[in-house]
Amino acid sequence: MKLVKVKNYDQMSEQACDIVLDRINNLKKPVLGLATGSTPEGLYKQLINKYTNKETSFNNVTTFNLDEYIGLSHSHPNSYYTYMNEHLFNYIDIDSKNVNIPNGNVSDILKECSDYEKVISEHGSIDVQLLGLGSNGHIGFNEPGTPFSSRTHIVQLSESTRQANARFFESVDEVPTKAITMGIRTIMESNEIVVLVSGLKKSMALANLINGEVSEEFPASILQKHKNVTIIADEPALSKL
Ligand code: F6R
Repeated sequence: MKLVKVKNYDQMSEQACDIVLDRINNLKKPVLGLATGSTPEGLYKQLINKYTNKETSFNNVTTFNLDEYIGLSHSHPNSYYTYMNEHLFNYIDIDSKNVNIPNGNVSDILKECSDYEKVISEHGSIDVQLLGLGSNGHIGFNEPGTPFSSRTHIVQLSESTRQANARFFESVDEVPTKAITMGIRTIMESNEIVVLVSGLKKSMALANLINGEVSEEFPASILQKHKNVTIIADEPALSKL
């Protein structure tokens, strides 16, 4: 794993933006894996700026989001569908046909999971998968204990993850209890993975990701086994290394 050490959140976002832009500008039909949450917001802002300044175009880019809550409609303010539109897609020239986000509001969620895997494999593989890091080591919504062999599946969100995400909702009671997530094997099949880590709250998790034993009890530890991982972390996140 390559570790890029930066001073702060803005520098982390800039470094990540450089990597994503390079891949978008150099691959014929780039396939990006995208994350939501607080961590990639700065990166998305920078990508919008690059597009606005005509330094890039997303018209041949395909995206696959990592996850989505179960039970929220597309138009719900806290769905990841809304998040992606508000933080990126509304401001760039991506073709909506090339945007893929699991739909957590269908009657047959199991079919949705297998269809999602199918569409990913029809695209070959994800060129660059962006990841944030959960304080408990989750990647996507793969909580501790998720088999490394998992593909896109339904998860029961842990109490700590629901508490962590309650800041986006009126109260923790409104945070859905279930989600769809790309599985760990699905993530590991990406050609390249870029992990963004910012803030003191993530410092223990980052230390475990890099130096901990590889264990399903800490999902992100599997990244030690991937051939092409770049971690971009800021000083507060690096403080326990
Ligand atoms: C989001 C996702 C999650 C987050 C993680 C960190 O799509 O898959 O794994 O990346 O929970 O969230 P933030 O960035 O809000 O600290």
